[in-house]
Amino acid sequence: MNEPIVVDSVTALRAQVRDWRRAGLGVAMVPTMGALHDGHISLVRIALERADRCVVSIFVNPTQFAPTEDLDKYPRHLARDLDQLRDAGAHLAFTPGVSEMYPDGFATKISVGGPSFGLETDFRPSFFDGVATVVAKLFLQAAPDCAVFGEKDYQQLCVVRQLCRDLDLPVEIVGAPTVRDAHGLAMSSRNAYLGAAELETACKLNVILRRTAAALSAGADQAGATDAAVKALVSAGFRKVDYVAARTSVTLKPWQRDRDGRLLAAAWLGTTRLIDNVEIPST
Ligand code: PAJ
Repeated sequence: MNEPIVVDSVTALRAQVRDWRRAGLGVAMVPTMGALHDGHISLVRIALERADRCVVSIFVNPTQFAPTEDLDKYPRHLARDLDQLRDAGAHLAFTPGVSEMYPDGFATKISVGGPSFGLETDFRPSFFDGVATVVAKLFLQAAPDCAVFGEKDYQQLCVVRQLCRDLDLPVEIVGAPTVRDAHGLAMSSRNAYLGAAELETACKLNVILRRTAAALSAGADQAGATDAAVKALVSAGFRKVDYVAARTSVTLKPWQRDRDGRLLAAAWLGTTRLIDNVEIPST
């Protein structure tokens, strides 16, 4: 496998993408914050099925972290990330510094409504402004034909789709299934924070969500089923549950039985916050 080209400036990124376009090649993008794992790599594989060239951005975006969150301790492993990108066949890694993305005087924020209301926003109020702003910048910088996002961050995927629709960004958004470990735990860069006992508890998040989604599609009362899920998470060892909520897919409005549904949750294990979601099977 060839080493990916590594660029850290928007000018160099644009020059490379321009050369590919002149050669008639299509470009797919996978935005990430690095500390890559098999979930990220699955997105690269999907990108490579859809386009001739794959650009992966690695940027721990400060504007999506609240001052109380883990920006400073967020894992950063650039050399290991580049090895994984080479093995997966990605063509270019875009690794800008903070001053390249947010030069002095930067003063713009993109705020998406619709699917960004509630859920994560109730607990991380400026998170999706940060995500939408950086994703819009990345799309304008790399001008990809399509971009792949994981269903692991289901609300983020819906927000990015809304962003592109509302701003007429000519990027096709491709959703990719959540990659899980052998015990069903959704892979996440933040799993690195968990100790052995916490990892064991973490696996129960998906088990409880799947059980609750099955109960909902079998006709269980929504409030009763989600309350029971919160209690089950707490007795499994989660310190605090931010939400367990049934929503309609795509819009993320409250779930109606005749629509495709998604059950989403966020819960704390010690000082680590985990999120996951599953489909509510239609009957
Ligand atoms: P990050 O958490 O690094 O995730 C990058 C992409 O990988 C996202 O689309 C996310 O949904 C996907 N992903 C993470 N874990 C996954 C898993 N287990 N299975 C499948 N896909 C998975 O999400 C972000 O970064 C940032 O918010 C970003 C979009 C890059 C903007 O800064």
